[in-house]
Amino acid sequence: MLGNFTYSNPTKLYFGEDSLKSLNEELPKYGERVLLVYGGGSIKKNGIYDQVIRILADNGKTVSEVPGVMPNPTVEKLYEGCRIAKENQVDLILAVGGGSCCDYAKAVSVSTYCEEDPWEKYFARMEDVDNPVIPVGCVLTMVGTGSEMNGGSVITNHEAKMKIGHIFGDNVFPKFSILNPAYTFTLPEYQMVAGFYDIMNHITEQYFSGTDDNTSDYIMEGLLKSLIHSSRIAKKDPANYEARSNIMWIATWALNTLVACGKTTDWMVHMIGQAIGAHTNATHGMTLSAVSMAYYRHICPYGLAKFRRFAINVWDVNPEGKTDAEVAEEGLKRMEDYMNELGLVMNIKELGVTEDMLEQVADSTILFQTDYKPLTRDDVIRILRASM
Ligand code: NZQ
Ligand code: ZN
Repeated sequence: MLGNFTYSNPTKLYFGEDSLKSLNEELPKYGERVLLVYGGGSIKKNGIYDQVIRILADNGKTVSEVPGVMPNPTVEKLYEGCRIAKENQVDLILAVGGGSCCDYAKAVSVSTYCEEDPWEKYFARMEDVDNPVIPVGCVLTMVGTGSEMNGGSVITNHEAKMKIGHIFGDNVFPKFSILNPAYTFTLPEYQMVAGFYDIMNHITEQYFSGTDDNTSDYIMEGLLKSLIHSSRIAKKDPANYEARSNIMWIATWALNTLVACGKTTDWMVHMIGQAIGAHTNATHGMTLSAVSMAYYRHICPYGLAKFRRFAINVWDVNPEGKTDAEVAEEGLKRMEDYMNELGLVMNIKELGVTEDMLEQVADSTILFQTDYKPLTRDDVIRILRASM
């Protein structure tokens, strides 16, 4: 473990079938005015909205609302939330929904008292927060992003054709998150499996970096094995609580900063996926699955030892009598088969990307310094073309 790091995570988690009751423990810690943030209506259909409203009323809260937070929340929606939060002088933002609602709540939290355009400050220029922030709590209903226990907030600006994530510090992490695996049972299969792949990709984005002996890599191999096992069960039997609860827990650990400890990390699948999202508004997890195989095959020769290890330790490939490249490719092939088995989108055409858009998508892709094969714009276009 050669990297230096600091680790702390301030989010308190309540996990399990009875976890919503814990709102009664958390709500008294904040003032009377609560801003309830939720999506396009799923929580009204499955009854979670009514349960939350009842607990808020029991705790004497005055509730204002921002309904209609869309998947891939937009900058226009952010401005609306800031207006409502300010008008109502809210003391707590409670997000009830998936990663989009949690991300959105964090964006409103840092932006409401921001004196300039929050898109410019936090997303375009990536500056730190220097204004008051409003505390955030989450009740999670969709699994994948890890937003329930991290400082990430991803906002889409359709006009600028950019989808950008800002990783905020400890003061913006949710103060608490409530994780009831049974809440995820009503998710449509498309969203469910997209979330499964989001988790897998969060792990591989961090795993495929570095060449040192790093405990974080061993933790990630364990998380991946548990994810592959439970996701296969959940795909066949979505109401399997044991599988869904394991997956919910894996998602949190995949992106709550723990497994990044001592790692440089990669994140280029996410950067390309987000660029596709900015142009198509496609489901996040599917933007990742559609480009992953082309990306990993592109960088594999430059990080061969790690890809070989991935094949053996995660996909149980027998290395005997094979070259390193053959072992690595067999691992990637097993991953690809698994992705097909889940029913993930495996090409970008299906997400609405056409040949004439490739250059623009490449222009919207933020290029990170990565360990194995730093990408150029031409590499991105090559990967996109291979993903068509
Ligand atoms: O809007 P409603 O009606 O609630 O429907 C949602 C939405 O249509 C539905 N849904 C959620 N829970 C449900 C449900 N439907 C039925 N039953 C339930 N229990 O699912 C759809 C997708 O929800 P969304 O919140 O958009 O999905 P997800 O959790 O995948 O979040 C995606 C957003 O998170 C960002 C993505 O870029 C994207 O904007 N990310 C955030 C990250 C972070 N904070 O660290 C990291 C990720 O890599 C990701 O980038
Ligand atoms: Zn993701």
